Amino acid sequence: MPAFHAPVLANRALPPDAAVLTVAVPAHLTLEPFQFAMLSIPQDANFPFLPRPFSVYDARPGEWDFLIKRVGRGTGGLADALPGSTIYVAGPVGNGITKLPTDRRPIGVAGGVGIAPFLVLYREWLAGRVDVGSQKPLLLFGGRTRDMLYDLDRFTALPIEVRCSTDDGSFGTKGRVTALLEQALAEGPADVLCCGPDPMMEAVAAVSARANTPCRLSLETFMACGYGVCNACAVMVKDERFPQGFRYDRCCVDGPVFDAATLVHAH
Ligand SMILES: Cc1cc2nc3c(=O)[nH]c(=O)nc-3n(C[C@H](O)[C@H](O)[C@H](O)COP(=O)(O)OP(=O)(O)OC[C@H]3O[C@@H](n4cnc5c(N)ncnc54)[C@H](O)[C@@H]3O)c2cc1C
Ligand code: FES
Repeated sequence: MPAFHAPVLANRALPPDAAVLTVAVPAHLTLEPFQFAMLSIPQDANFPFLPRPFSVYDARPGEWDFLIKRVGRGTGGLADALPGSTIYVAGPVGNGITKLPTDRRPIGVAGGVGIAPFLVLYREWLAGRVDVGSQKPLLLFGGRTRDMLYDLDRFTALPIEVRCSTDDGSFGTKGRVTALLEQALAEGPADVLCCGPDPMMEAVAAVSARANTPCRLSLETFMACGYGVCNACAVMVKDERFPQGFRYDRCCVDGPVFDAATLVHAH
């Protein structure tokens, strides 16, 4: 896995609690949608000992963006990193998405900062590298409030259909994003790809299963090494070859994207 010191080129605040960090990366680096990188600031004594995983939010030759929501010391340090400083990047890592079914409508379901991996996917589709057949992709974007629909304008500017929900009704349909999903699944055959908080992903997997719709989840498990050696990111995957009926996969190298139907705890 490539690993390098990356100069911070820009930091765009997304109030109240997030930022988009742009860093310089080697120009030859390519990545697949839904791959991620382990980020740290080794020279910052306040940064946690272990790096933290983040989806690559956007990618241009020689530049990657990360959408970072502050939840603790690691995300706080990264969201505060200013142009002129340097962070440490190890990636891309993980199983990217290179194909979507062409006979079903691709539905992305994002909760809050779970929107992060979708932009690269849509860019790859627009560049003709991910085929989705003749149907326009649909993005269902949910958040607790309008503020949690991070960088919404970037997505509504794309030639995709975007439907939003907020728990408090401050934007889009009032209620959970799963209500939008139920409605969308009733409109025709679909293929669901979801990233967001665990309870939301469990609910999305359950709604999809009830509608006999394929569903993949991009998991945000805790990670330590990010390259498959520590087992901190173990995920239980159904496997009849084992007496207990499951095996452990590592989210960092076997994921982060898993077929919801194979996960022990998806629904
Ligand atoms: C593959 C992958 C991609 C990710 N992509 C993004 C992204 O694009 N943008 C983004 O903002 N975040 C993303 N995350 C989540 C991000 O890695 C965590 O928020 C971060 O590691 C927290 O670090 P911290 O030091 O700030 O918080 P900590 O001090 O480690 O934790 C602060 C609080 O957040 C909780 N927490 C920490 N990590 C997680 C987690 N993974 N899931 C749920 N709760 C957690 C802790 O329990 C604690 O309550 C991703 C995670 C994974 C595994
Ligand atoms: S984080 Fe170490 S094996 Fe996945």
